[in-house]
Amino acid sequence: MHRFDDITHQHCLLVAGLAAAFAKSLGLGEGECHRLTKAALLHDVGKIHVPTAILNKPGKLDANEMALMKRHPELGFAMLTGQAFHPEVLQVVRSHHEMLDGSGYPDGLKANEIPDLVRVMTVCDIYAALIERRSYKAPMPGEKAFAILDGMTGRLDAAIVEAFRPVARAFVPRFPPHA
Ligand SMILES: [Fe+2]
Ligand SMILES: [Fe+2]
Repeated sequence: MHRFDDITHQHCLLVAGLAAAFAKSLGLGEGECHRLTKAALLHDVGKIHVPTAILNKPGKLDANEMALMKRHPELGFAMLTGQAFHPEVLQVVRSHHEMLDGSGYPDGLKANEIPDLVRVMTVCDIYAALIERRSYKAPMPGEKAFAILDGMTGRLDAAIVEAFRPVARAFVPRFPPHA
């Protein structure tokens, strides 16, 4: 990933940092903390099959580009399958863009079909993407990014989003405490 695209590499490192901190604050066991952090490092590995001209396109993706971009979870899952990764790690890689209301991809999973570890990962991933600088957008302040997560009712697990608040705040020093 580092050799392929520095922006994606840095994104994976940020998500891994967030995931490690969040797993600890949730009181997950050592094994789950380890698997979640490892999955975070690997979650976008399938993006090495997406040309960097698409990944870092300054404007909006067209339909074909978007379709290719949306294949990265399956492609990453295929790359890692059969290499002795824990099934939970593989599931997080495959399903990190699923939404509770079934609007996500690649499998359109719903509610209870989405395991807790995947839900935790999705929150970390979206927050990271919002606070990062990309070719098509400026970084968003942590408070605003968290407000977006908070507004994704029905798509993200509300209890997990609320539990993420102190982790988000810890990564952005001026993030204000809960009103
Ligand atoms: Fe992704
Ligand atoms: Fe990601």
